[in-house]
Amino acid sequence: MATSSRLILFSTLVSLISFYLSSTLGDQNTLQTYIIHVSLPTSEVNLESYYRSFLPVEDDLTPSSQLIHSYHYVISGFAARLTHDELQEMEKTAGFITTKPQKMLALHTTHTSNFLGLQQNGGVWQESNYGRSVIIRLLDSGITSDHPSFHDNNMPPLPAKWKGKCEFTGSVTCNNKLIGARNLLGSGSSDPPFDYTGHGTHTSSMAAGNFVDRANIFGNANGSLAGIAPFAHIAMYKVCTEGGCEEADMVAAIEVAIHDGVDVISGSIGGFHRSFHGDYITVGSFATMRNGIIVVTFA
Ligand SMILES: *[C@@H]1O[C@H](CO)[C@@H](O)[C@H](O)[C@H]1NC(C)=O
Repeated sequence: MATSSRLILFSTLVSLISFYLSSTLGDQNTLQTYIIHVSLPTSEVNLESYYRSFLPVEDDLTPSSQLIHSYHYVISGFAARLTHDELQEMEKTAGFITTKPQKMLALHTTHTSNFLGLQQNGGVWQESNYGRSVIIRLLDSGITSDHPSFHDNNMPPLPAKWKGKCEFTGSVTCNNKLIGARNLLGSGSSDPPFDYTGHGTHTSSMAAGNFVDRANIFGNANGSLAGIAPFAHIAMYKVCTEGGCEEADMVAAIEVAIHDGVDVISGSIGGFHRSFHGDYITVGSFATMRNGIIVVTFA
């Protein structure tokens, strides 16, 4: 009892201090990305122009706010960069429901094959056909498309239900293993989804890297290497950079994945605890599940 009341006192103090700091030091003109829930009108509308109608009219006094993503499946709403004052104006608009500033998420990893107890010559690994024809969509930092794990020997052709895109061009384009790749960063570079941290290439090859013979590190551990589902197809949505993963981009990637027709969404992203309804990994996973897609994440 004494401990819990001390905790409450402590967290009250922390909230008071942070409220004091944000009210005295917080710059009301700083642009921040908000995820904004709105109610939809009963008549048919063009979603994007409807969402844009919530944004402030541009004038020279405020830094220009902008729409970053329009959402359709996960929530009725959008992501926008706004100042605190602009947000307060928007809150008075009819149709506005609620908003939260997005959080920056971090990349994570785990030890899945040990956990699943997969055996080399039999059991569920073989019986499940090594994931043949399944499409796994990864939300991550991009992918090194010409990495040896992503060759497409022995891969089945593109599934008919696949509607996604490949933004790689030239000699390092997609194939029957890496069937799609997109850059969904709302801010920053619009390059093809190259992986500059290695994390997305690492998680993609663990999930569905093809068999690679004589894989070794300076001659050590020389042998065959494969992902958990070596005959599954990979589609990469880049939503992370060296700086982390913007929550608004992650929701956008879940949107596109539901549209593109994937079987599994894998995201090794996280980093903070919030209530279920305030956590967009949870909200997005719920929408995904309602669209018949399995969500896999690290634990
Ligand atoms: C790895 O093993 C193969 C035989 O399985 C051998 O031919 C190759 O030279 C080995 N590579 C290294 C770097 O030891």
